Amino acid sequence: MDRRQNESPQIAWAKYPIPRVRHHANPQVYMPASQQQFIASWYPPVREKAEWAAWFANGRPADVLDLGCGRGAFLLRHAVSHPQLNILGIEVRAVLPDYINGVARGEGIPNAHAEWYSLANGLDWIQTESIEYAVYFFPDPWPKKRHHKRRAFTVEFLAMLHRVLKPGARLWLATDREDVDVHQREVIGASPHFTLGPNETDQSWPFPFCTDQQLLCDSRSIPYVRYSAIRNL
Ligand SMILES: C[S@@+](CC[C@H](N)C(=O)[O-])C[C@H]1O[C@@H](n2cnc3c(N)ncnc32)[C@H](O)[C@@H]1O
Repeated sequence: MDRRQNESPQIAWAKYPIPRVRHHANPQVYMPASQQQFIASWYPPVREKAEWAAWFANGRPADVLDLGCGRGAFLLRHAVSHPQLNILGIEVRAVLPDYINGVARGEGIPNAHAEWYSLANGLDWIQTESIEYAVYFFPDPWPKKRHHKRRAFTVEFLAMLHRVLKPGARLWLATDREDVDVHQREVIGASPHFTLGPNETDQSWPFPFCTDQQLLCDSRSIPYVRYSAIRNL
């Protein structure tokens, strides 16, 4: 049985075959458009403005960002359990937003949408201080030093999130990789815009449902840490 079924009786996952995804996209998608010689067809569209009316049934802007939302198990369940919030996923691999938006349409989840977009191009199209909270769960680790430049989590990334998050809002984080954990804590420590929150437990973690990667970790007893970066006022 689909692992997501256990915790998502209200989403008929079996109706939506999971698309085959190559493990990694072309490495250039992790680099900003400004560094491309030309914009190839496989490069995610460079967005200048949001299309809220097309993305959410109520036409309102996003309230929550799911950055690198993957296959969207968390995004979709999050939207079902918080119908008052518009949840926007951002994902660099095109087939995944297509899949998520297909499930949202098929299941009638009007407040969930995912966009094919690279975080490397920033979030200028999102209104200042408009987001209640953001999540960044189980990011790609890029363990080799020469690949670190593909990591989205940088001081500049936090500055960009500081602009779009409401004062005091949180960026929720989870990872099963020690090197990613160390990297994230270093970046948060170097940012004037965020303060590191405490490690969370099952009891203190505010989300009662899992991401796809978290389900995989749980099924293989792989440990992970969860915490937040709190946006300074
Ligand atoms: C390991 S997966 C985790 C997915 C999901 N958050 C989860 O916990 O199951 C990391 C995701 O981030 C996406 N990603 C990596 N870099 C990105 C970028 N620059 N912009 C948007 N998405 C990105 C990857 O394509 C991948 O789907």
